[in-house]
Amino acid sequence: MRLDKYLCDALGATRKEATKILKSGEVTVNDAVQKSGSCKVSDECVVEWQGREIQKPGPRYIMLFKPDGFVCSHEDGFNHTAFVLLDEVKMEDLHFAGRLDVDTTGLVLITDDGKWSHRITSPKHKCEKTYRVWLADPIGADYIEKFAQGIELRNEKQATLPATLEIVDADEKEVLLTITEGKYHQVKRMFAALGNKVEHLHRERIGHILLDEALEPGEYRYLTQEEIDSVWK
Ligand code: URA
Repeated sequence: MRLDKYLCDALGATRKEATKILKSGEVTVNDAVQKSGSCKVSDECVVEWQGREIQKPGPRYIMLFKPDGFVCSHEDGFNHTAFVLLDEVKMEDLHFAGRLDVDTTGLVLITDDGKWSHRITSPKHKCEKTYRVWLADPIGADYIEKFAQGIELRNEKQATLPATLEIVDADEKEVLLTITEGKYHQVKRMFAALGNKVEHLHRERIGHILLDEALEPGEYRYLTQEEIDSVWK
C-alpha cells in the first residue's frame, strides 16, 4: 500500500492532509523519514508520526492500564472517561470490551471490532477474567469452596458460575479471583455476600491476554496479532 493511502486510512485524513503531514518530515517508516506518498509500506513496516506508532489501517485492538478515577464509557458528567488517556483518531468508533468500575484499576481492552469484543463479553463464551483483590477482613476458611460452588447475590435469581479463588497472602488479605461472567459489580458483590468488603480491585487478565507489566497506570499499547487471535481460541 502507498504511504499516503496508509495515512489516510489509519488517521482518517484526506489525501491533501496526508501529503501535508508527510511534507512536515514527521513521518518515519522503519525509523527512516519518508516524505513521499508513493513510498510502499507492507504489513511488517512500522510507521510512526511524531514518534508515535500509527496502527495499521483496519480494526484497532488496544490494551490500557486503567488507573483509579476513570470511567469506562464515552460520557460521564462527573469522572474522567478513560478515553482521554488515548491519543487516537476516530475515537467515536472505539468501545470497551468489558468495563471496570471507576475505582477498579488494571486491564481494559478497547476496540472498534464489535464481533471481537462480543466474544469477550458474551456470557455464552465464558471468557475468564482474573482479578487481584485486597479485602478489608480476613479470608474465610470456606471461601475457596464457596466460590467454586457459586455464590448467591442479592437481586439475582441464579447463583454465580463456579469461580476460582487463590490465596496470595492471607496476612495482607490478598487473593486472585477468576470468574467467567461479568455481572454488575460482580466481584465486590461476591465478597459482600460472604460478609467481606473489597478494598481494592485490579484486573490482570482477560482470556489469554495479560496486562503488560511494562505499562504504567494510564498507558496503553496495541495488542499483538497473537493476543488478538487468542480471543477466538
Ligand atoms: N467486579 C467488580 O465488582 N468491579 C469491577 O470493576 C469488575 C468486576
